[in-house]
Amino acid sequence: MLEGLLVNLVPYGKEFLERDHRWMNNQASFWSGGGERHFMTQAMIAARHAQWAEESGDINDELGVAFGVQSKDGTPLGYFGINWLSAHHRLAMLGAKIGEPQYWGGGYGTDALLLLLDYTFDWLDVRKAWLMTTSMNARVMRQMEKVGFRLEVRQRQSALADGVWYDWLAYGLLREEWPGRAALVEQLGLRERATAPESGAK
Ligand SMILES: CC(C)(COP(=O)(O)OP(=O)(O)OC[C@H]1O[C@@H](n2cnc3c(N)ncnc32)[C@H](O)[C@@H]1OP(=O)(O)O)[C@@H](O)C(=O)NCCC(=O)NCCS
Repeated sequence: MLEGLLVNLVPYGKEFLERDHRWMNNQASFWSGGGERHFMTQAMIAARHAQWAEESGDINDELGVAFGVQSKDGTPLGYFGINWLSAHHRLAMLGAKIGEPQYWGGGYGTDALLLLLDYTFDWLDVRKAWLMTTSMNARVMRQMEKVGFRLEVRQRQSALADGVWYDWLAYGLLREEWPGRAALVEQLGLRERATAPESGAK
């Protein structure tokens, strides 16, 4: 378990898998999918997990690492992890989804990201972490800025969300640009907080 101030990162076990159906079909998916609206049945989700489990047993150099994000009171909140890890290029593509919208904008995602970055750089010896989002996702863009990622690619008008065109954005962070979690906690003034969020996302 990786212990943060507001959340812990734990193995993506049964209590997370049970919530996947809701998290794959609520507004969290709209944001993480860059504006796509789709519906997934429980059978489709189970098949996808079975495929991931099978692939992770393969001998290849492109694996993912899935963590469950858990609040300090033990509530499963979502997924943070490495969607694609290239051992050859020492490159990690990150993925993030807090499936409970009332927790958005409360610092939980940044806490999880700092844990994930320390894990990625220190434990896996990766050279570069990167992720993609769209220009409508102000929470991710703000997070990237806070944590020190650089905007590296802007694909203009490539994502369609509810009839509006947005840009796809790729952000990257090199290992030498990462000061470490403790330094970021200090710099951002992050503190433990006992209370759960009020309902209603920011
Ligand atoms: C993206 C996500 C993981 C971020 O986690 P989070 O807990 O919401 O993020 P944080 O609260 O740590 O940071 C978000 C920042 O955006 C700010 N923010 C929130 N709403 C905002 C808005 N509408 N406009 C601008 N900034 C906004 C917050 O105030 C915060 O900045 P601050 O710390 O300076 O106040 C989470 O929102 C999420 O899972 N969203 C749905 C799925 C998704 O978008 N996944 C990302 C795929 S790349």
